[in-house]
Amino acid sequence: MGKVVVVGSINVDMVFTSEKRPKAGETVLGNSFSLIPGGKGANQAVAAGKLGAESVMIGCVGSDSNGEFSIDNLKSVNVGTDCIDIVNGVPTGVANIIVAENDNSIIVIPGANYEANRDVIDKYKEVILSADMVLMQLEIPLETVEYVLELCKKNNVKVLLNPAPAVELSQSAIESASYITPNEHELKIILGKNCDTEEEMKKYPNKLIVTLGSKGVKYFDGNEMKLIPSNKVEVVDTTGAGDTFCGALAAALVNGSVLEEAIRFANKAAAYAITKLGAQSGMPTLEQLKNN
Ligand code: RIB
Repeated sequence: MGKVVVVGSINVDMVFTSEKRPKAGETVLGNSFSLIPGGKGANQAVAAGKLGAESVMIGCVGSDSNGEFSIDNLKSVNVGTDCIDIVNGVPTGVANIIVAENDNSIIVIPGANYEANRDVIDKYKEVILSADMVLMQLEIPLETVEYVLELCKKNNVKVLLNPAPAVELSQSAIESASYITPNEHELKIILGKNCDTEEEMKKYPNKLIVTLGSKGVKYFDGNEMKLIPSNKVEVVDTTGAGDTFCGALAAALVNGSVLEEAIRFANKAAAYAITKLGAQSGMPTLEQLKNN
């Protein structure tokens, strides 16, 4: 079983569902409210763990009930939690998520996630270097992400970077990552807005894996631009679809799949996840995916 180590965020999601998304200055009555474990890092760790990888989480929570809730949840799905620091004086990260009109909008307050600094990385360096793949997102300080990228490059450890929420990435960050998984909108931001994205994808064969929602996933394989179609399903909540995709992709790659096969597997997992409310609640196990 391959090992995925996630260095990333841990949040508690406050999910409101409603028919209508409120406009600025408007109040609407919604349908439901749930508190669900989330955070792009934790979501991806859960997806990788459920889909066949040994999964370990490195990150920070506050010394509060949300932190306890998040760690208990990760333990319950067999994600390693020994490298999660509990930090005093800052709250666990939270996300306010509105699910309405077939899409979601999210505000994240990072809280303790921004305590995931170089000292934390140094402390868990050996765990990072024991990974078959390190998985990161951008909900912890960019400086930490760049530090881990450098460390992994020096030690030949593969990194899958999910650049969300997107910021422009340095050339060296792009070069150091083995795989980068932006959506179309994020692709423009990470590369710098004025570049020709197709040309850039050609410069990085088998590295820039661009998710296109219901249209599928595209990447340049060295010869041609490939489009791997998504699996069609009834959408309930798209929150965490990208996280399921990244966790599943990492799991498949560390367990020996070639890239195209891993993308097809990850597409299937992401499609399954959007048929349920919440980022983690809908993530399939290997067994569920096989029987689907
Ligand atoms: O990608 C979905 C996640 O983004 C949510 O779980 C929320 O916590 C935010 O981090």
